[in-house]
Amino acid sequence: MSAIIETERLVKSYRGRPALRGIDLALESGIVHALLGPNGAGKTTLVSILSTVVRPDGGTARVAGHDVRREAAAVRGVIGLAGQHAAVEPKLTGRENLRVFGRLSGLGARAARHAAESALGRLGLEAVADRVAGGYSGGQRRRLDLAVSLVARPALVLLDEPTTGLDPLSRRQLWDAVAELTREGTDVLLTTQYLEEADALAGNVVVLNEGGIVAHGSPARLKSRVAGETVTIAVDRPEHAAVAAQSVPGDCRIDAERMSVTWSSRSGAREALGVFADLGARGIEVRELTIHRPTLDDVFLDLVGAEKPEGGGEPEGAEQPEGAGKPAGAGKPEGGR
Ligand SMILES: Nc1ncnc2c1ncn2[C@@H]1O[C@H](COP(=O)(O)OP(=O)(O)O)[C@@H](O)[C@H]1O
Ligand SMILES: [Mg+2]
Repeated sequence: MSAIIETERLVKSYRGRPALRGIDLALESGIVHALLGPNGAGKTTLVSILSTVVRPDGGTARVAGHDVRREAAAVRGVIGLAGQHAAVEPKLTGRENLRVFGRLSGLGARAARHAAESALGRLGLEAVADRVAGGYSGGQRRRLDLAVSLVARPALVLLDEPTTGLDPLSRRQLWDAVAELTREGTDVLLTTQYLEEADALAGNVVVLNEGGIVAHGSPARLKSRVAGETVTIAVDRPEHAAVAAQSVPGDCRIDAERMSVTWSSRSGAREALGVFADLGARGIEVRELTIHRPTLDDVFLDLVGAEKPEGGGEPEGAEQPEGAGKPAGAGKPEGGR
């Protein structure tokens, strides 16, 4: 398996403030990689270095084996005309842009027309295809950029928060287009603030926080380290809470005063329905059902906390232990694998 992206001790500061604190990455070709992190984590800085737009202060970065500093032109060749580099011409229509990009990437006239129509359809841009790109909304523009990738098919596409601010339909279309790209052999690195999006699209997730890598691995592996949903079911009598507790698949807490049971689970909604059905079959009325999903903040606290050398224990139904602080040794590589 060859690495499409490799970095070693990659460092970048802005006016003395570190944005990247020593990033070591070896991302293999053939799967989608997501850089997941909150605002200010350093995602855009990293993607900008990889696309040769920003120069690192130290360390190395290679794209398909080409050094971003010494072989910038070769790196741009790998990234092609798409993604970060989408040089969409605002005076041309969406359709015209796509045909031009098709020709520039070596397609014949007919093939370029065909590729343009197909990309317009995939990203739901037919209705605005004959409007000039300069008049597109932010979301339409983002979809046009990705349509360019579909037409031009570079070896690697870098997508910086491609779905932020998009409506659900546009987001879905973008997800589908990313999946289509990868089926055709294009590597994709995208950044996102949403664990859900990383989960939906990526085979490998790198979690960035404050300029350092705090966790990485498959979405399943990361999620297994994150506390699940917390479910509370309240019934109409204290003794019925004890009955409800018997229907809960694992451990739970009974609150006699509130006449409720509470438990944590990674499939809380499904379990809640099971308990609900059990109670219904016994004629017990459910007064209240709440499911608390971990927020992005919870997820980061869990991941950052879990990465500490002492290793905070499993999040067993408990709330956040005590102040899960910053990533320990954010500047260090995450241990060779
Ligand atoms: N051009 C810039 N000038 C000064 N500071 C910057 C610049 N770009 C980014 N930063 C700072 O670097 C840090 C990382 O930013 P960024 O890479 O944009 O994070 P993200 O994309 O994850 O939100 C932030 O603290 C941000 O304020
Ligand atoms: Mg950003």
